Amino acid sequence: MKEVDVARRRVLIMSGVAVVSTLACTATVVLGTQVPAVPFTHSTCGPEGAKRVLVAYGSQYGSTGEISQAIADRLCARGLSADVRRVQEAGDPSDYDAVVLGSAVQGGKWLPSALAYLEEHAAVLNRLPLAAFCVHMIYLDDSEESAAKRSAYLDAVYASVTPTTEGFFAGKLGPMRLPGRLALQWVGLPEGDLRDWDAIAAWADAVFPDLA
Ligand SMILES: Cc1cc2nc3c(=O)[nH]c(=O)nc-3n(C[C@H](O)[C@H](O)[C@H](O)COP(=O)(O)O)c2cc1C
Repeated sequence: MKEVDVARRRVLIMSGVAVVSTLACTATVVLGTQVPAVPFTHSTCGPEGAKRVLVAYGSQYGSTGEISQAIADRLCARGLSADVRRVQEAGDPSDYDAVVLGSAVQGGKWLPSALAYLEEHAAVLNRLPLAAFCVHMIYLDDSEESAAKRSAYLDAVYASVTPTTEGFFAGKLGPMRLPGRLALQWVGLPEGDLRDWDAIAAWADAVFPDLA
């Protein structure tokens, strides 16, 4: 295939992905929400006087907060102190020795709240040990294509900061109210709780030395 045809095909695919993602987000917001919503995790663990880690997350429905809690539990079990906060409540990261920052993915990127936090605090986040993670429902398999697609979820993150480690976790979607469910099925987003708690714990164990 000619170079110009390949480029045209790429542009078409990228436009298709953007249109489908935008339609999914709009349809979900307009037509229906997830039931029930999980409360947003807000907690502190670990011994006093230990190195302090902020585990901040962007979430719409709560599943990313529960993943953040699992990461914090693991770090605290290894002797760190961790605050788990939704980005809206995370505050200034310069109070901490290290940061774990993650977000649910919607429309192929981090939630606006998480990106806003990242941009506002980029200077501090670039000075501290920083591990970043995404929570998402598609492109979960080991193929090169999926790896490239999920890696692109972090493009906007790398525009502001350079994490020492990155992680990608299967998330949770639904149950949705019917119209929202149809919208998500239409764009190929599966419903269900796909979270792999062993994989999340293993990632936390692996990033621990960078944060300690
Ligand atoms: C409107 C909407 C758009 C989504 N877009 C994507 C996406 O582009 N790629 C993906 O892998 N997952 C996508 N997801 C799945 C979420 O990332 C996943 O359900 C995540 O666990 C939600 O986290 P939360 O419960 O913390 O909000 C989308 C979910 C919703 C509701």
